[in-house]
Amino acid sequence: MSTFQAPKGTFDLIPPDSAVYLAVREAMSAGARRAGYGYVETPAFESTALFKRGVGESSDIVTKEMYTFTTRGDVSLTLRPEGTASVVRAVLQHNLDKGALPVKLCYSGSYYRYEQPQKGRYRHFSQVGAEALGVEDPLLDVELITLAVDAFKDLGLRQVRLLLNTLGDKECRPVYRAALQEFLRGLDLDEATRARIEINPLRVLDDKRPEVQAQLADAPALPDFLCDACKAYHEEVRTLLSIGGVAFEDDPKLVRGLDYYTRTTFEFVHDGLGAQSAIGGGGRYDGLSEELGGPPLPSVGWALGVDRTVLALEAEGVADVAPDTRRVQVFAVPMGEAARHLLFGLVLDLRRAGVDADFAFGGKGLKGAMKAADRSGARYALVAGERDLAADVVQLKDLVSGEQIPVALDEIIPTIKEKLS
Ligand code: HAM
Repeated sequence: MSTFQAPKGTFDLIPPDSAVYLAVREAMSAGARRAGYGYVETPAFESTALFKRGVGESSDIVTKEMYTFTTRGDVSLTLRPEGTASVVRAVLQHNLDKGALPVKLCYSGSYYRYEQPQKGRYRHFSQVGAEALGVEDPLLDVELITLAVDAFKDLGLRQVRLLLNTLGDKECRPVYRAALQEFLRGLDLDEATRARIEINPLRVLDDKRPEVQAQLADAPALPDFLCDACKAYHEEVRTLLSIGGVAFEDDPKLVRGLDYYTRTTFEFVHDGLGAQSAIGGGGRYDGLSEELGGPPLPSVGWALGVDRTVLALEAEGVADVAPDTRRVQVFAVPMGEAARHLLFGLVLDLRRAGVDADFAFGGKGLKGAMKAADRSGARYALVAGERDLAADVVQLKDLVSGEQIPVALDEIIPTIKEKLS
């Protein structure tokens, strides 16, 4: 143990679990790549103003959870709490919106939020995201939702539910917001919640406390306020999901924690996770580009939580998501200095020939080296000592059957390749 530990709310990914994370990220982005989403990578920190404007001054993320610092040049920067604002910034900066639309992008990386850590909620976490920018078409919303549903399915998850809602647009949402505020102001609520009514009343609907929920039964509901265009758009999304065989649950109370959403919003929840059940979420953000000083760029996207998805796999007992990359096929055990040179060269050649191979480094004795060979998961060990070298052979030992045969040096690689095929 050293004096230092990873900071609160963070953790190291180490083998063998790290292989599961890699496999989950891969499964989450593979479908998007096949559907024409190109890979985008943006900096881990951005101008603080980008997130204030993008994610929204009234969101918990901006008011409480950002890692913000001032540089030596007196510039305020923030570790990215999410990916969408950065992606829109990059699209506008590089004029991708002037080319063919939609611009389809996917990404994978670390995000940072100063939250109270608990199981499934970390200060440094990992997301895979996909965004389709510049086109208002319900088919795109459904394409994205389906990509996420299929990714979870491919990973072997069965208990994922899709919650669906619409938040209206800049025509109808303000009318609803005013009606909701009026209703909420008449309730018996504590001071912090009363303050929230004025800043972000929709978030009050999300309050988990039973005494608050009890008062919300007769709250005005957004579906009653939707304008015709939003209603038709949402109906089309629902119809298309049904055509695509994607099960969903209408959840008029689904309010996302970021202010940029318009129309379609959705969340993927897993029931085996307790409080932090959202394993992914997303929706439309038709006004975000304009909020950031760009042209109108109606867009939709999602981000899936890698850490929580790994927990969901554990909760469902899904094993074998990832091969343990520490396992090799062949392990070389030299006895003596001359054999070290010869076998090391052979290991390099085996790797070049496409065989996963490892070596007993550090001059271990035969017993220790054979133990390392067993631990490596290798099917075969290559063993050689002075007598073998003199005869131009290497002993090929099958670590499962224990059988050992001498093989001529120039026959080793083809023999192993044949045995492994
Ligand atoms: P979000 O709902 O804030 O959306 O995050 C997406 C997912 O990231 C969550 O469902 C959760 O699985 C994971 N996540 C969030 N915070 C944490 C945390 N503290 N610890 C562990 N996992 C976490 C967004 O970030 C939007 N940018 C999604 C989006 C893309 N909307 C449109 N495009």
